[in-house]
Amino acid sequence: MFDRLNALPADPLLGLITMFRDDPNPSKVDLGVGVYRDETGHTPIMTAVQKAAKHHMETEDSKTYIGPGGVVGFVEGIKSLVLGSESSVLKDNRIAGLQCPGGCGSLRVAAELLVRLKDELTVWVSDPTWANHIPLISSAGLPIKTYPYFDAETGGVNFEAMESQLAKLGPKDIVLLHGCCHNPTGADLSFENWKRVAELAVEKGFIPFVDIAYQGLGDGLVEDVEGVRYLSERVEEMIIATSCSKNFGLYRERAGTLLVQTKDSENARAIQTQIQDIARAIYSMSPAYGGFLVDIILSDNALRTEWENELNAMAARVKSLRSGLLEKIQARGIDKDFSFITTQKGMFSYLGINKEQVARMRNEFSIYMADSSRINVAGLNTHCLDYVADALKKVCE
Ligand code: LMR
Repeated sequence: MFDRLNALPADPLLGLITMFRDDPNPSKVDLGVGVYRDETGHTPIMTAVQKAAKHHMETEDSKTYIGPGGVVGFVEGIKSLVLGSESSVLKDNRIAGLQCPGGCGSLRVAAELLVRLKDELTVWVSDPTWANHIPLISSAGLPIKTYPYFDAETGGVNFEAMESQLAKLGPKDIVLLHGCCHNPTGADLSFENWKRVAELAVEKGFIPFVDIAYQGLGDGLVEDVEGVRYLSERVEEMIIATSCSKNFGLYRERAGTLLVQTKDSENARAIQTQIQDIARAIYSMSPAYGGFLVDIILSDNALRTEWENELNAMAARVKSLRSGLLEKIQARGIDKDFSFITTQKGMFSYLGINKEQVARMRNEFSIYMADSSRINVAGLNTHCLDYVADALKKVCE
């Protein structure tokens, strides 16, 4: 029976992990999967996370189930981290929240919730979007369309084109937005753009669906969510999928949350039962560990400050790698304007080189990036900047 199924090509992002690992070249550079790395190429466990883990190990006295919603303190902490403790939506108890297995789990439960509405909805994603958005959402059975987003000329957002597509949408449309640090392009909406999106959502009735996986890795924990907070205060309903993979470095622990903003607290209680029921039917309950650690960090002032400082240092390091790379590229007089590298935000940049050039970077120089030419800026370090800039010059000639 199983021999009717053929082998599939490797995942466009996760496949890079094995390719890189198997490359014997000592000069190899991994700019593939989006994980933070330090100067030595290591993905460290944040000190605040280590302390929380120690505390958790010393105090956890049972492994019994914790209930269908997940670690309550974690979900509550993430609600305030994203929406702010002053959020009127939070004060009015209009959010249903569920701990999910990472941002992916949150996106998938959200997609299943949309399917339950039996409303012939369409999910609109940015062109381009994170490679896994489409399989995660479409395999729940939802049709996907794209709205214009990235402007290859400027390396920024073509907001005019995006806006004119959103203006044609209506209440049966769900618009997936990246809360900050757009993956894969690093091109973010400005606050003015967010305001316009909010205006259009109210006017046309489409539902914003925000995926936020990099809060704190762009301009700061609060700055990165200004647009999302504005949107939440203006629209009646929206969906937010969050991840603690990057900003808490909890990748393998799969700690995420799904937040569903509803029109009133009664509906929030109903949606809470729906999302728990969806999770129960797929995987029953989320792994709790990552949520416990985040809860410990967010509810302890000293630990929280330590975490924020570490996160700020990570974001600052990525920013300095951006300027470092641009400097090296400019010093080589490459005949292409790469100045967008320093205006894009978060861990990713789209280099804007073609597939053949990406393949040459990989095959001739052992520099690994996604086929789209997305690089994980955090994979750079001060030792490899010259090597990467030299290789870029060669493939751009
Ligand atoms: C990425 O975009 O590289 C990360 O979010 C890892 C993943 O799961 O794709």
